[in-house]
Amino acid sequence: MEEILSVQNLCKKYDELVVLDGIDLSIKKGEVVVIVGPSGCGKSTFLRCLNGLEDIQDGKVIHDGEVINPCSGKLNKVREKIGMVFQSYELFPHKTVLQNMLLAPLKVKKADKKQAEKEALGFLDRVGLLSKKDNYPRQLSGGQKQRVAIMRALMMQPDILLLDEITAALDPEMVREVLDVVISLAKEGRTMVIVTHEMSFARAVADRMLFFDEGRIVEEGSPEEFFEHPKTERLQKFLQSFSYAR
Ligand SMILES: Nc1ncnc2c1ncn2[C@@H]1O[C@H](COP(=O)(O)OP(=O)(O)OP(=O)(O)O)[C@@H](O)[C@H]1O
Ligand SMILES: [Mg+2]
Repeated sequence: MEEILSVQNLCKKYDELVVLDGIDLSIKKGEVVVIVGPSGCGKSTFLRCLNGLEDIQDGKVIHDGEVINPCSGKLNKVREKIGMVFQSYELFPHKTVLQNMLLAPLKVKKADKKQAEKEALGFLDRVGLLSKKDNYPRQLSGGQKQRVAIMRALMMQPDILLLDEITAALDPEMVREVLDVVISLAKEGRTMVIVTHEMSFARAVADRMLFFDEGRIVEEGSPEEFFEHPKTERLQKFLQSFSYAR
């Protein structure tokens, strides 16, 4: 498979605090990589570095053969190609669902309005939210908002999606509906890097698991190896805290 993203010796500090300490990673087209690790170990920072939201102190991130440089004017192009969805949906409150979906494609990509609208309605239909197209975000449940946020990211036709704990703020009964959308994206071959605390979801969706601790990749492997035969004591302890002990 073709490599789409390459991370080489990525180092990130906030003043004296080392947050990412030499990360190397290669992601192939169509691959789903899931990152887990303790709070504060650098997972969110890592995702932000992948699409140029953070300046970095050493190393590089290469997307599709091009170095992502946070200071470069080309950054908008990168952000178009690498979509990101966060824990808080970040929908624009004063815009309807459909307007939220259309904003970036029309503004940034100068997409044709009719065509973009057709696409947006298709995406909303896919996640069962066509009837909500003229509603405002405050009129939706958390799970519905998050499904809109995922589909909105797809409107830019990204070639990688970064998902940062997208179900962390949801009530338990809404988690499933959002994760099912992500699983369907994985099935259609989307490349994704996912940070989650939902271990059974991670296991179901991942092609490859990464365990981050203190700014490093401490262990990686197939979901089966990772969950059934964790090699490092640190990962064993971490999984035990999720009652994934064997
Ligand atoms: N803007 C910032 N300025 C200074 N320190 C920061 C900043 N953002 C994050 N940090 C620090 O960097 C470290 C990594 O934070 P990060 O948010 O990446 O962790 P995380 O693995 O995503 O944790 P969680 O699971 O709680 O979301 C933490 O020690 C955090 O306090
Ligand atoms: Mg985080």
